[in-house]
Amino acid sequence: MSSAENQPAARTVASTQSEMTEIILPNDTNTLGNLLGGRLMHFIDLTGAMAAYRHTRTHVVTAAMDHIDFIQPVHVGDLLILKSSVNRAFTSSLEVGVKVWVEHPQTGMLLHVASAYLVFVAIDKDGRPVKIPGLLPETPNEIRRSNDALRRREHREAEAARRKQERREQAERLKKETAKA
Ligand SMILES: CC(C)(COP(=O)(O)OP(=O)(O)OC[C@H]1O[C@@H](n2cnc3c(N)ncnc32)[C@H](O)[C@@H]1OP(=O)(O)O)[C@@H](O)C(=O)NCCC(=O)NCCS
Repeated sequence: MSSAENQPAARTVASTQSEMTEIILPNDTNTLGNLLGGRLMHFIDLTGAMAAYRHTRTHVVTAAMDHIDFIQPVHVGDLLILKSSVNRAFTSSLEVGVKVWVEHPQTGMLLHVASAYLVFVAIDKDGRPVKIPGLLPETPNEIRRSNDALRRREHREAEAARRKQERREQAERLKKETAKA
């Protein structure tokens, strides 16, 4: 892993907070005028990347996005509000939380649409992971989110190992069947 010189001191969660507001236009919607799930995921990815970029101040790529529940439909003409911040920084990767609301344009009422956790990896110009600054959780909520992010990382790693083992066993089975035939 390449490491940035003069590694900056740990950053606060507040310094990573990012926000994006979008007006939903017909091009973002399906035939019923509802926001497309893929378009929402694109907005989530962008808002998440902003927080990751503010933390690392280098190139970042999306390595993983956890499953998303779409709780509330969003219609053409609605305002979509997305907020993100870094939950925990690891060595070259970091977890970002993104929360999404819809604002009804006439009443101003806010409804929770979706939440997602994304993992970004900081890379250099050659695509190699680079070491990132630490994160200082300060408030009780930030500390809870940081602890939860560690648990989710352990869960992702266990799941990745399980899938790898499954692929290995499948390849072995296929090899045996081919040899028999
Ligand atoms: C993400 C990527 C840079 C990781 O490269 P790699 O050679 O596998 O790197 P490593 O195995 O050394 O892992 C580097 C870090 O990435 C994390 N990581 C790698 N794959 C991951 C995954 N699928 N989910 C979560 N974290 C992952 C590792 O846990 C590690 O974190 P740490 O340094 O904080 O401990 C590489 O897989 C990549 O370029 N993927 C494509 C990304 C992309 O194009 N995204 C969509 C468009 S932005």
